[in-house]
Amino acid sequence: MQLIAIAAQSLEGFITRRDEPGTEFTSEADKKWFTQLMEEFPVKVMGRKTYDAAKPHILKQVKSGKRGLRIILSRSPEIYSDQEIPHKIHFTALPPEKQLDIIRSAGYQDASVAILGGSSVYTEFLKAELIDEFWITLEPQLFGSGMPLIHRSWTGQLELLESSRLGESSILLKYRCKNYKNADG
Ligand SMILES: NC(=O)c1ccc[n+]([C@@H]2O[C@H](COP(=O)([O-])OP(=O)(O)OC[C@H]3O[C@@H](n4cnc5c(N)ncnc54)[C@H](OP(=O)(O)O)[C@@H]3O)[C@@H](O)[C@H]2O)c1
Repeated sequence: MQLIAIAAQSLEGFITRRDEPGTEFTSEADKKWFTQLMEEFPVKVMGRKTYDAAKPHILKQVKSGKRGLRIILSRSPEIYSDQEIPHKIHFTALPPEKQLDIIRSAGYQDASVAILGGSSVYTEFLKAELIDEFWITLEPQLFGSGMPLIHRSWTGQLELLESSRLGESSILLKYRCKNYKNADG
C-alpha cells in the first residue's frame, strides 16, 4: 500500500484562501490534473471539514457508481452514521495506523491511498510516518491568511523527487516523505 498526500497551496503555504472553504482558488490546470489523478486512487482519506467542502461532488461520484472507499476522520463519527454508505463512505475516529487496517480489510491492501487533507489530517499522517510521498501544487497566489498546509506541531525535511509545470504558471512538486526527520523527535 502506498500513501500519497496531495494538496494545492498558495505561495506562502495556505491550503485555503483566507477562511473560504474548498479549493476554488486552484488553477484550471490543477483542477484538470487533480480530477484525472483521483481516478488512480481507489481509497481516499480526508478530514470531516474537507469532506463537507467537497460533499456534493463526492456524493455525485458515489451515486454514479464509481468504485472506491472514502474514509472521513471525525472525533464524533456517530453523528454522521446516517451518511455512511457501506464500502464507499466510512466515518472514523481511529488513529492513522488503524485506518490502514480498515483499508486492508476492505480489500484494498495493494491500493494507492490518497491523503487529501486538510491540515490536521496531513499532520496526523506525517506524525505517524505513514506518508510515502507529498504532492503539492504551488499556485502563483498570495492570500495573506488561510489554513496552513501543516499544523505547527510538526516540522520535517522532505526530499524533492520531481518538479513539473501544470499549465501556464502552476508548479507540481513531488516529495519523498519516507525516512524524513521529524524535528520534534
Ligand atoms: N488546498 C488543498 O489542497 C486542500 C486540501 C484539503 C482541504 N482543503 C480545505 O481545507 C479546509 C479544511 O481543512 P481543516 O484542516 O480545517 O479540516 P480537515 O482536516 O478537513 O477536517 C478537520 C476535522 O477532521 C476531524 N479530525 C481531525 N483530526 C482528527 C483525529 N485525529 N481524529 C479524528 N478526527 C479528526 C475533525 O472532525 P470533527 O469536527 O467532525 O470531529 C476535525 O474537525 C477545507 O476548507 C478544505 O476545503 C484544502
